[in-house]
Amino acid sequence: MKTIPIRPYNGYFHPQAPTEETMLTHVSAGKPCGEYLRRFWHPIAMTSELSDTPMPIRVLGEDLILFRDLGGRLGLVHKHCSHRGMSLEYGIIGERGIRCAYHGWAYDVDGTVIDTPSEPPGSRLKASVCHGAYPTHEVHGLIFAYMGPPDEIPEFPVYDTTVWPAGTELVPLKLDLPCNWLQAHENAADPIHTAYLHSIVSGVQFSPSFSALPVLEFAETPLGLLSIATRRWGDNLWIRGSDVILPNVAQFGTGFVDGSKEKFALTAAFTRWITPVDDTHCWYIGWRQFNPVIDPEGQGRREDIGRNRIDLMGQTDERPYAVRQKMPGDWDALVGQGDIAKRSLEHLCSTDRGVTMLRRQLRAGIAEVQAGKTPSKPPRYGDEVVPTFNNETILRVPEREGATDAEVLRAFGHKVCRVIIDSGLPVGERQSATEQAVRKLQADGAFYPPPDGTTSSAVDQEKINA
Ligand code: FES
Ligand SMILES: [Fe+2]
Repeated sequence: MKTIPIRPYNGYFHPQAPTEETMLTHVSAGKPCGEYLRRFWHPIAMTSELSDTPMPIRVLGEDLILFRDLGGRLGLVHKHCSHRGMSLEYGIIGERGIRCAYHGWAYDVDGTVIDTPSEPPGSRLKASVCHGAYPTHEVHGLIFAYMGPPDEIPEFPVYDTTVWPAGTELVPLKLDLPCNWLQAHENAADPIHTAYLHSIVSGVQFSPSFSALPVLEFAETPLGLLSIATRRWGDNLWIRGSDVILPNVAQFGTGFVDGSKEKFALTAAFTRWITPVDDTHCWYIGWRQFNPVIDPEGQGRREDIGRNRIDLMGQTDERPYAVRQKMPGDWDALVGQGDIAKRSLEHLCSTDRGVTMLRRQLRAGIAEVQAGKTPSKPPRYGDEVVPTFNNETILRVPEREGATDAEVLRAFGHKVCRVIIDSGLPVGERQSATEQAVRKLQADGAFYPPPDGTTSSAVDQEKINA
């Protein structure tokens, strides 16, 4: 590759058409990432988007039709009729499946051809064709699809944050992002941006505590990684630990927790997938959780959540362009990277360890599928619920003379998150167990470096580009 001279005004020397990283970004069938993603369930629509007419929808680069037949069953089928290709968006929904309007062929929700009306009696044509179709799963107002090999269909993952505490309300949401899925997902593994984009550079967008620069940690979990940002807020330390779950799921806290009150292992307020529409479009789609544990003051706004609506600023393009230019949010940061971010032009730095860890994990998953293996199943407990590790923990740990505060923050983030990851407890039991364990560490002075001057605990440092 041509060397770019390090000198002022060197625009002329930069490559104008950099090569694109396709391994992790291209999502159509047959592409390495497309095949990998096809081994998982993905949400594709909100139940409320579906009417009594067929819904054209593009997922993983495939044109599909989603419908609910009059018997109440969901169908997700290839768009073009298997006869001569009319779009089934004009199909007539029946008691059982959908009928093409052009010559009347009818398909069940699983693609079985149930009628070819003009064929002579005794014709075996029906049995010789099966229309393309995919299994669906509907839960809490979202419709999921599995688009991989039918014999490798995974169990649907029920994350603990969607079932605990009892009575948690899950409100579905779906946001359009006109960019590749990976740059949208990587945002979850890049917690330093919450200080700059959401406070220091763009102005305060969430709680004022986001303005404190965090110390970052990234820990591997059985599901992917935990992206840990630890901040000092007065005498308190505040951890915001966000799950980044393979391949495209992430969880986050509310955005309005601040560092002023002690809290232990608050769970997620968002569980979202980044579902690719095609190589250059994706959806932020999932649930916003409402319960008194994560939001005791009732600051969340149910009425602001839905199709291209969310109760966090900056996640859509609804604000005028001139306003977004002065105070850009996540939507502008992600879409602003271009259709597909050009990773060959990046200059990764010390805060990008989560991004490199995520890319490494995705490459490993892709290699597994390329080797003919099925991606490993996440561990479960009890009734098949998948434990997750998202947490916000706030504890009084004042600065201490002689202890470098960045080291204290690092030890706190690392040790508390290790307690949570290693506990093996269901989320409902984990909260009080975490409080006990963390209070004990606090009483033992475990967050301060030992007096002999050696550095605090070994930490999971990830090397850039490792
Ligand atoms: S094109 Fe659909 S039945 Fe002929
Ligand atoms: Fe953000």
